Amino acid sequence: MLPEAYEDRDSGPTTGTAALPSVGGMQTIVRPAVAVTDLTKVYGTGDTAVRALDGVSVTFAAGGFTAIMGPSGSGKSTLMHCAAGLDTVTSGTVQLFDGRGEATDLTGLGDTALTKLRRTRIGFVFQQFNLLPTLTAAQNITLPLELAGARPDPEWYATVVDVLGLRDRLGHRPNQLSGGQQQRVACARALLARPDVVFADEPTGNLDSKTGQEVLDFLRRSVAELGQTVVMVTHDPTAAAYADRVVLLADGRLVDEIARPTADSVLDRLKRLGA
Ligand SMILES: Nc1ncnc2c1ncn2[C@@H]1O[C@H](COP(=O)(O)OP(=O)(O)OP(=O)(O)O)[C@@H](O)[C@H]1O
Ligand SMILES: [Mg+2]
Repeated sequence: MLPEAYEDRDSGPTTGTAALPSVGGMQTIVRPAVAVTDLTKVYGTGDTAVRALDGVSVTFAAGGFTAIMGPSGSGKSTLMHCAAGLDTVTSGTVQLFDGRGEATDLTGLGDTALTKLRRTRIGFVFQQFNLLPTLTAAQNITLPLELAGARPDPEWYATVVDVLGLRDRLGHRPNQLSGGQQQRVACARALLARPDVVFADEPTGNLDSKTGQEVLDFLRRSVAELGQTVVMVTHDPTAAAYADRVVLLADGRLVDEIARPTADSVLDRLKRLGA
């Protein structure tokens, strides 16, 4: 089965240019990669309705590494899925900016346009790796671009493969790779299209701490050295400390943010939230 992010769906596009929103109260001019505005997501209807997101506005800066944290059920995965165009929103907008600052409102796109956009402009790393078992590492890495009918840039492919230390594993299938190697393949797949943003949901959740650190080091390097934009959901304060900024959710609302987080400062805020 294809990873959900790369599945085909159907219908038509809307794109527009929007004024760049200011970034989370900071005075410095930072180019946004993603701007989420007044996002609400309600699952179900009537008595069983769950308001997973309740008016969330947040901007993820281009070339930044942001961690999303908060108690279980606070809406972290929902925010990520809505921001990545993997789930529909109940109200609000999600703007994805390209390198020239042109915005596309994902909530206005039809399924075909959204699928295409996800394959080339958004990278995904999931807790469960989501690699195709019958394909080699190399084939998994290039799959989204191939599905989009695009050819990977050979130099960039070589850079990504070497930075992730996958050169001698490219012919292996996922079941011939360790968990950490599988997650590095997933990272390579996410980066190959040079997407405007990489979303990672608990990317170290299935890894031991040493392997998890390698993946986090890589995500950090992809931001610092390759100019990538990364947004990562995590429960782990040590993982969050790899980010430039942590945003905290509680009950579907953005309640706090920490610039230049350390494991201690994150733990302290989480404790205050009762997480
Ligand atoms: N498909 C769904 N149908 C109904 N309710 C849902 C669905 N997905 C999520 N929810 C509810 O929305 C709320 C937010 O869920 P979400 O998965 O975003 O939380 P989370 O912060 O990622 O939690 P965790 O840390 O446990 O992964 C929860 O109350 C959850 O039960
Ligand atoms: Mg979650």
